[in-house]
Amino acid sequence: MILKGKKGIIFGALNEQSIAWKVAEKCVEEGAQITLTNAPVAFRMGSIKKLAEQLNCEAIMADATKPEDLENLVTKSMEVLGGKIDFVLHSIGMSVNIRKNREYTNLDYRWMQQSLDISAISFHKTMQSLLKLDGINDWGSILALTYIGAQRIFPHYSEMAEAKAMLESFARSFGYHLGTKKKVRVNTVSQSPTRTTAGSGIKGFDGFWDYADKMSPLGNASADACADYCISLFSDYTKYVTMQNLFHDGGFSSMGMSAAFMEEDEE
Ligand SMILES: NC(=O)c1ccc[n+]([C@@H]2O[C@H](COP(=O)([O-])OP(=O)(O)OC[C@H]3O[C@@H](n4cnc5c(N)ncnc54)[C@H](O)[C@@H]3O)[C@@H](O)[C@H]2O)c1
Repeated sequence: MILKGKKGIIFGALNEQSIAWKVAEKCVEEGAQITLTNAPVAFRMGSIKKLAEQLNCEAIMADATKPEDLENLVTKSMEVLGGKIDFVLHSIGMSVNIRKNREYTNLDYRWMQQSLDISAISFHKTMQSLLKLDGINDWGSILALTYIGAQRIFPHYSEMAEAKAMLESFARSFGYHLGTKKKVRVNTVSQSPTRTTAGSGIKGFDGFWDYADKMSPLGNASADACADYCISLFSDYTKYVTMQNLFHDGGFSSMGMSAAFMEEDEE
């Protein structure tokens, strides 16, 4: 019960594969009270309402690119949960150019702006809404999910590389302000490739997944393992970790060459 008495908002649970779905389940298991949120289209197409029923919590619609939706979300969450918020998970990612199969060297810039707004600027908007409405408790914890494509090249990751680089930068910049004003910590968790709706949208995802799995000494981290890590970061055991990009990837980010591939070549 490491989250007993804490109140949180979980963005991005679309279906049972979603990383946010697993995080929401574990938060409640560990004693937290939460609200769930997602974009209107996810309420129509996804199974967020099923999760809300299962966890006996409220699901509040918000397009994370709209400040007015986010302010409504923060206000309603405080009402429903009976006080200020202790933790937030931003688990949102979408590239319009990837979805429409545009090559990286021929991107549509209006779509790029939408992708950056959804995948990165929404994180800044969320933190700004929380601060504006005095919605976050001192010593709270805010997390966003990211990918190593922010630092290294994965050709099919396209404009999501820039979106994730911006997202990680917001964690540092806003982490400074929330730290000095409220003792709130802000971090990003850089997760292994994971079979979800967003993950599988990347071209050649299965090859991508296998490569990372082989390269990582511990193998790819699952969505369940990611949820375990997230709840540790919401708990009081990690109060002084802030403005960090934390790799949760089975060791992938430290690898240069793996014996697993050399042995394959020798065979
Ligand atoms: N799956 C992977 O391989 C992987 C690896 C590293 C990081 N991540 C990151 O994890 C996070 C969660 O993705 P996932 O893999 O669980 O996939 P997912 O498809 O289950 O989740 C993505 C979520 O973003 C939501 N979303 C999209 N537009 C939105 C908007 N305008 N407002 C509010 N919500 C919106 C979707 O409805 C969905 O719930 C993303 O940030 C993703 O980039 C995923």
